[in-house]
Amino acid sequence: MRVTSSPAGLRGEIATLPRPLVLVPTMGALHEGHLALIRRARETAGPGGTVAVSIFVNPIQFDRAGDLAAYPKPLEDDLAKCETAGADLVFTPESGSMYFPDRSINVTENLLSRHLCGATRPGHFDGVCTVVLKLFNLFQPEAAVFGEKDVQQLAIIRRMVRDLDVPVEVIGYPTVREADGLAMSSRNVRLAPEHRADAPRIRRALEGARSLLQFGERAAAPFLAAARKHMEESPFLRIDYLELVDAETLQPVGHIKKPAVLATAVFYGEVRLIDHVMLLP
Ligand code: PAJ
Repeated sequence: MRVTSSPAGLRGEIATLPRPLVLVPTMGALHEGHLALIRRARETAGPGGTVAVSIFVNPIQFDRAGDLAAYPKPLEDDLAKCETAGADLVFTPESGSMYFPDRSINVTENLLSRHLCGATRPGHFDGVCTVVLKLFNLFQPEAAVFGEKDVQQLAIIRRMVRDLDVPVEVIGYPTVREADGLAMSSRNVRLAPEHRADAPRIRRALEGARSLLQFGERAAAPFLAAARKHMEESPFLRIDYLELVDAETLQPVGHIKKPAVLATAVFYGEVRLIDHVMLLP
């Protein structure tokens, strides 16, 4: 497995590595969810192709300085995990080598980022789009794998690739969960023990609401009310948002006629967790 931290070094490595090249962008602190994406990348790259991973805690997508500072950086551990999962190349740039101090060009998304995480995290998805486009330009991958866990991020990246004619196939991968149903996240280790024990409720609340579909319910309000009720029974959990949106445009819907997403972000203390379920009428 090759490791490089400079964009120039990356270009050199990439020129020698076999195609297709499939990229898995991450911010490190890798867990089983990330490793599943790396193994999925191998399926598309094939035994003779290249699986590349980027590990970069992208400063321009953080809206809270504390969150950026607290982001774990277990680099040695991450590299060992990449190797075990079958990566061929890992890119670990420093912030200074990714962004010019006077950079003045940004990718801006104006529709899909209005609700859900975009509403409470101003500039977040512009930061994500900008770094992902830079990574696509640096690696020039045939394909890239992203987790469905970040459902809004995945939809926005698909839209960016469509709107800007980016020649990369975007592959989504289902959410990997702990045995008790909690979606895996680098932030889970920061949960206090009583919060960690309570957190599977997020998934149960969303699944419980989804079961209304079986009874023919199509109006949004009962889904939102059912999920909210279950989450509000927790003495710890604070809802950041709970929304029912169209799966493609991510705009709120009053009635479920097409595939929709019931999505939430919650706080346990300072730790913010997200999850969602798809509602297929
Ligand atoms: P990060 O949070 O490190 O996630 C990297 C990738 O792993 C994303 O595609 C994310 O959706 C996926 N992922 C995280 N947890 C997962 C889980 N439990 N199951 C399946 N996939 C999971 O997302 C980012 O980094 C950044 O925004 C990035 C795209 C790298 C741009 O900076």
